[in-house]
Amino acid sequence: MKICVIGGTGFVGTHLITKLVSLGHSIKVITRRPERHRHLRTLPTVKITSIDFFGNKILERQIDTYDVVINLVGVLNPQGKNSFAHVHEKVALRIAEATRAVGTPRLLHMSALNADEKASSEYLRSKGRAQKALLEIEGINITTFSPSVIFGAGDSFFNRFARLLNIMPGYFPLTCANARFAPIYVGDVVDAFINSINKPETYGKNYNLCGPESFSLRELVSYTAQQIDNHYAIIPLNNFFSKPLAMFMGLFPGAPITLDNYKSMLLDSVCSNSEQSETVSELDLKLQSIESIVPQYLAGKDFAGQMDYLRKKSKR
Ligand SMILES: NC(=O)c1ccc[n+]([C@@H]2O[C@H](COP(=O)([O-])OP(=O)(O)OC[C@H]3O[C@@H](n4cnc5c(N)ncnc54)[C@H](OP(=O)(O)O)[C@@H]3O)[C@@H](O)[C@H]2O)c1
Repeated sequence: MKICVIGGTGFVGTHLITKLVSLGHSIKVITRRPERHRHLRTLPTVKITSIDFFGNKILERQIDTYDVVINLVGVLNPQGKNSFAHVHEKVALRIAEATRAVGTPRLLHMSALNADEKASSEYLRSKGRAQKALLEIEGINITTFSPSVIFGAGDSFFNRFARLLNIMPGYFPLTCANARFAPIYVGDVVDAFINSINKPETYGKNYNLCGPESFSLRELVSYTAQQIDNHYAIIPLNNFFSKPLAMFMGLFPGAPITLDNYKSMLLDSVCSNSEQSETVSELDLKLQSIESIVPQYLAGKDFAGQMDYLRKKSKR
């Protein structure tokens, strides 16, 4: 199949494209900065291109003749004109409009667990507005996916906590320590996308994606500390202290946490048992645990993860 992946240069995209290539598909990746992603260009059957999404019929010409369009575009910490509304809604609606205009058979869209127009975080509100609008569009065969936090080589969850733990001076103040997550392996997210492509029963549906178990953030950070042999004290902060710390940290470039991240963690990022079993059976998933995957990439203290490593290598 010919598959166009937009937002495919990041963590999830690199895993997805690598698997699609191994299955023999031809891939076009649309990115803002093709020169930064030589790690994808070295894969056979991958073309990388840069376009103006909003230029007259430019996106339509890029995806015309493609069988599937996959939209993974997203930001956690928006900057300048790349606001949540622009990246999550405007770009997503533009992609959907183009796929409908050229009659692309299939559109897969990445949302986020708890995406909701009424959420207190703008990340979740913008994802929620887009998800709702996209599922209401007639004339496209769309499926949306809403994962909890995603882990795997190159993730920005376990790797980020490992890096932070390593630079803290003996103790680690943790915001929203009781927030719960059901981390899902990136390989399972990739399988969910790929397995849905030829299943008409998934058209027009959203799938919440969770891993096999849920944990508090405190448990996940303690687990990370164990993996990297770090014995510093984790100081769980209640909401009274978490909010000002998140506001303060959000002032720094590349902030480890922002006020909006804090607001998104006020809601547990977990799935109900019934939606979990429906998703697993409809998308044929065999969910991996964190124990079976995380030690492989935190071992050797390569906290930068596979993707950063590949990027650095390709810049040499
Ligand atoms: N990672 C998680 O735990 C998690 C959990 C739930 C949902 N998600 C969602 O899953 C998707 C992929 O996540 P990820 O972790 O792979 O993110 P990532 O590594 O940050 O990659 C994000 C992608 O979005 C593209 N992008 C960002 N701003 C853009 C803009 N203004 N215009 C066009 N493209 C833009 C980037 O493309 P270029 O820079 O190459 O143009 C990049 O390929 C996102 O939608 C994210 O919200 C992720």
